[in-house]
Amino acid sequence: MKAVIMEAFGGVEVLKLGETEKPVPGEGQVLVKVFATSINRPDLVQREGKYPPPPGDSLILGLEVAGTIESLGAGVRGWKVGERVMTLVGGGGYAEFAVAYASHLMRIPDGMSFEEAACVCESYITAFLNVFMIGEFKDGQSAILHGGGGGVNTAAIQLCRALTPACKLIVTASPAKMERVREVGADFLINFHDTPDFTEVVKEFTNKKGVDLILDHVGAKYLAPNMNSLGYKGRLVIIGVISGIKAELNMALMMVKRQQIIGSVLRSRPVSEKGEIVVEFVRRALPKFADRTIVPIIEKVFTIDQVTDAHRMMEEDKHFGKIVLKIR
Ligand SMILES: NC(=O)c1ccc[n+]([C@@H]2O[C@H](COP(=O)([O-])OP(=O)(O)OC[C@H]3O[C@@H](n4cnc5c(N)ncnc54)[C@H](OP(=O)(O)O)[C@@H]3O)[C@@H](O)[C@H]2O)c1
Repeated sequence: MKAVIMEAFGGVEVLKLGETEKPVPGEGQVLVKVFATSINRPDLVQREGKYPPPPGDSLILGLEVAGTIESLGAGVRGWKVGERVMTLVGGGGYAEFAVAYASHLMRIPDGMSFEEAACVCESYITAFLNVFMIGEFKDGQSAILHGGGGGVNTAAIQLCRALTPACKLIVTASPAKMERVREVGADFLINFHDTPDFTEVVKEFTNKKGVDLILDHVGAKYLAPNMNSLGYKGRLVIIGVISGIKAELNMALMMVKRQQIIGSVLRSRPVSEKGEIVVEFVRRALPKFADRTIVPIIEKVFTIDQVTDAHRMMEEDKHFGKIVLKIR
């Protein structure tokens, strides 16, 4: 089968289109004929050799796919060959066929294209898991979402608007993306280039109360302003550490305000845990895609032979929302 092959780690130039063996689904798995996948920031980190796939998963890049079921592995019930599905994969998305666990499959709603479906699993499930399941975000509460123009955070804004319409969203963004972030659903915008310490503006916007939840992928640089901006019983959920991993924490303030800091990853969770997350996502979030309340935001669709351009676009932060790779 055709796939994006890497013979070495490095820059975009290591991504080459090549031929490799078609994978074989094991027990509880299905083979998906992939029509589209999408680029996620962790793919770039894996390409550089700093984010290996969990043991047993494909070495090929790609964390989510949309396509049709090509064949069923042993013990799979409730799914049929030919059904349109979207799914998380531990790796292997940048290829004509990928193996996925049946417990991670979601049926693509009618009217949703493969390109749109290829955006749902990694970004929206990451946002849903961390905002609603781990962050326990409720309607009427307030949150800070960092980097509002990215895949996970446009997804987080859309999910919050759809599932908790009365919430208040403070979103940090770079100047070029602020207007579009407002259109997606931010109530209050902070330009993170001008205002790396957002403590005072958040205090003012929340009448000194602070927010209930922060979804953060910036890490060290934002630990102090994040903690200063959290209210009583606030939750800081950390899903990335792009600015560094070490920072000073005022534990007394955290204790007195009964705040929580929670770290979270999706990819390396056990298969069964990811299955439980998918069940909850299907129950609460998928109906909002089916009725088009949420439509994935796609910056550009590249073909598989343009994979280097697709990675370059993300590396240069030129995208808003998702970048899709059309496989067939
Ligand atoms: N833990 C997990 O389970 C998990 C799963 C998936 C992704 N992630 C992490 O989540 C993050 C986002 O992933 P993605 O695929 O959505 O990537 P993405 O589309 O590239 O989004 C990254 C966003 O971060 C913004 N940003 C950069 N520096 C910032 C700063 N100092 N303050 C605020 N925002 C800043 C960028 O803004 P501009 O483009 O405007 O500069 C961009 O909008 C990555 O760190 C990724 O590793 C974690």
